Amino acid sequence: MPAFPWKYQLSDHSCAIEAGDLLNKYTNCPGTPLQIEAVTDSTLRIHARTQKSFAVETAPSSTGTLQLVEAASGDSAETSVLVLATDSLRITIDDALHLQISSSDGTVLCSDYTGPLQEAESLTEEEIEQMRQEGHVVHAGDDACRFQITKKLFGDEAFYGLGDKTGFLNKIGYDYTMWNTDNPDPHVENPTFKALYKSIPFFIALRNDCVYGIFFDNHFKTNFDMGYSSTDYYSFGAADGELDYYFFYGDTIADIISQYTALTGRCPLPQLWTLGYHQSRWGYSSQQEVLDLAQNFIDNDLPCDVIHMDIDYMDNYKVFTVDKNRFPDLTALSDILHQKGIRLVTIIDPGTKVENGYHMYEEGIKNNYFAQTPDGEVYENVVWPGDSVFPDYTSSIVRNWWGSQTKFLLDQGISGIWNDMNEPASFRGPLPDDVVFPGDDMPRQHKEVHNVFGHLMAKATYEGIKKNSGKRPFVITRACYSGTQKYSTAWTGDNQSIWAHLKLSIPQLLNLGMSGMPFVGTDIGGFGSNTNPELLSRWIQASCFAPLFRNHCAKFSRCQEPWQFDKQTLDIYRTYVRLRYRFIPYLYDLFYEESRTGMPIIRPLVMHYQNDPEVRECNDEYLVGDRILVAPVTDQGVHVKVVYLPEGTWIDYWTKERISGGKYILRDAPIDVCPIYIKGDSIIPAWPQLDHIPDGGSEELILEYYPASADSSKYVHYQDNGADFAYEAGEYNLYRFRADKDGELSVSMEHEGYEHHYETLRVEVY
Ligand code: GLC
Repeated sequence: MPAFPWKYQLSDHSCAIEAGDLLNKYTNCPGTPLQIEAVTDSTLRIHARTQKSFAVETAPSSTGTLQLVEAASGDSAETSVLVLATDSLRITIDDALHLQISSSDGTVLCSDYTGPLQEAESLTEEEIEQMRQEGHVVHAGDDACRFQITKKLFGDEAFYGLGDKTGFLNKIGYDYTMWNTDNPDPHVENPTFKALYKSIPFFIALRNDCVYGIFFDNHFKTNFDMGYSSTDYYSFGAADGELDYYFFYGDTIADIISQYTALTGRCPLPQLWTLGYHQSRWGYSSQQEVLDLAQNFIDNDLPCDVIHMDIDYMDNYKVFTVDKNRFPDLTALSDILHQKGIRLVTIIDPGTKVENGYHMYEEGIKNNYFAQTPDGEVYENVVWPGDSVFPDYTSSIVRNWWGSQTKFLLDQGISGIWNDMNEPASFRGPLPDDVVFPGDDMPRQHKEVHNVFGHLMAKATYEGIKKNSGKRPFVITRACYSGTQKYSTAWTGDNQSIWAHLKLSIPQLLNLGMSGMPFVGTDIGGFGSNTNPELLSRWIQASCFAPLFRNHCAKFSRCQEPWQFDKQTLDIYRTYVRLRYRFIPYLYDLFYEESRTGMPIIRPLVMHYQNDPEVRECNDEYLVGDRILVAPVTDQGVHVKVVYLPEGTWIDYWTKERISGGKYILRDAPIDVCPIYIKGDSIIPAWPQLDHIPDGGSEELILEYYPASADSSKYVHYQDNGADFAYEAGEYNLYRFRADKDGELSVSMEHEGYEHHYETLRVEVY
């Protein structure tokens, strides 16, 4: 055997490989060894990292055991091939540091690709210019990687995750860039739109007989070529920063998500009211207009829990101010609305107006809280308020300062904060790469901070609200990085009122859920351009179980509150909003499950029917938990839906017809029908008709029971005060219900720590 140019050092949990020049392409710190760590027996970390991660805030303490299977003996040796193993994985490393990871039964899961790479066609400057003149988007060299990991494609992969990218559920054959981008008009498919508002560099690879996941924890600009350039390999690479990726192995997609969220965190339990209906529009610009809006919900017999106030409530778009002419008494407005069961959420942008005498600007300037030019001047660009400066959220002092400002809004009765424009968006060209964020004595350039800017703003907001209110913070953000789920919900940013974007919303939300971001939604009805009755009706149907349930649209587009069209549209809208409210206890149970396991609230069919090849590419149906299947119509003029029902008995929610799954069916879907199916033998908790979510939830719980083949069914239900963190000290109830076909219910308590119990519990058998 030839001798190889590197040495290794093995300890219980990790193996450090000193490979000299071979490693230079992976690390910015010459001399840093490549570490292969067994975080657990099924999670590996492969890195040469010296810097802290923003996603994995507490470095995992490794519990997996790494054993030497094959190599020259001794702790330190020169060898030709090194084989290491945990209880469930086997890692083979060759002389050029190519890795192959197999399961312990010998199945090769993932292997570095060693063949030739496709050369990108080189175009002259003139050719590029000519193509651009005709309107083509040519990405010539913009995504250049400093280093790249290339993995073999075995030909049976389906890829899921990667945050909220465009395209279909399965990301095979796509090429994406992770660079948070304000793009108000995304095309449904790339290649021209490679980046959207969020960067979540995590994906799941489902193969015919195995599944694994990879999280590439690098927040510089990164690129994911999922078999776009070649059918022989896929790759991920970064423009800068260090090598650091995790490999997750398990039996199911759920196992992979659970491991990923164990590292990057899970979305904590939300306040109950946040699961209700939210109404928004860029343009609500006076106290009276907001009061009239709330009254319209009451007059039209429509449930509503939240109204969002966009940038027009501020004084000249200055954050943490209120325009006193248009909103003379925000506290009184919140009080009146609160009595009607409606809460207010206000938008906050990071761009802080340059204006002498404005407290945010002056305090920030005095204390050096803003990003700077390389020469040490405060960096300015333009956002809504005109000339603006950008807070340095990489500094814990700035985050505390920003978070403390939330008190100004909370004291006036505001219940949540919507963070926007935090890619960061800027109107006078993008922030240059070398803008400096001084941090806590750790200056970083914009090219390093860009993808975590929104994440850190969300963290600052979450921590501020938590401290100032003691409640579970409600934050919405547009920009994210891995781990943002701990601090914030997210919406998918600016879409358009077009059918293609309704269709896109389903894979987008499902992939976000599989990327660890469960509390997400799209702008119902579409943000830009004008919606219409049919599109709005189909959008409310498709979104009625979207975790974040908000209708929002742009100034200058047609108003799209549900009563703006005709009676039919209003009736349809009401039906689906009421359906949502009925199942809020089920959604809350799913949030409880998610907070413990990372399981998303809405899930692609492939998550529960992984071995059914028919659902790998199912783009237009989703499951709510594992018991409700929704198959929305997302095309204009279509009144019949081809629905795939996986194995088992499914019960048509509207007709109660029992259907055997494992096949496609044709379901009539006139404009007022969204096909919905309940899995046979399910119990689903429901509320009686309510117009608002009561503090502490409903006094009555209904258990909808759909018997199929079993004589009885069980269900575990979670209840707490739906508001604060008392549950962390055990103040919650866990009920175990058992219902039989006669409607007999037996209840036992798995945990009893919340003094409030239901006044009425009843079973409805369907
Ligand atoms: C951005 C947001 C949008 C908001 C608008 C005005 O476009 O994405 O939701 O309404 O800014 O604040």
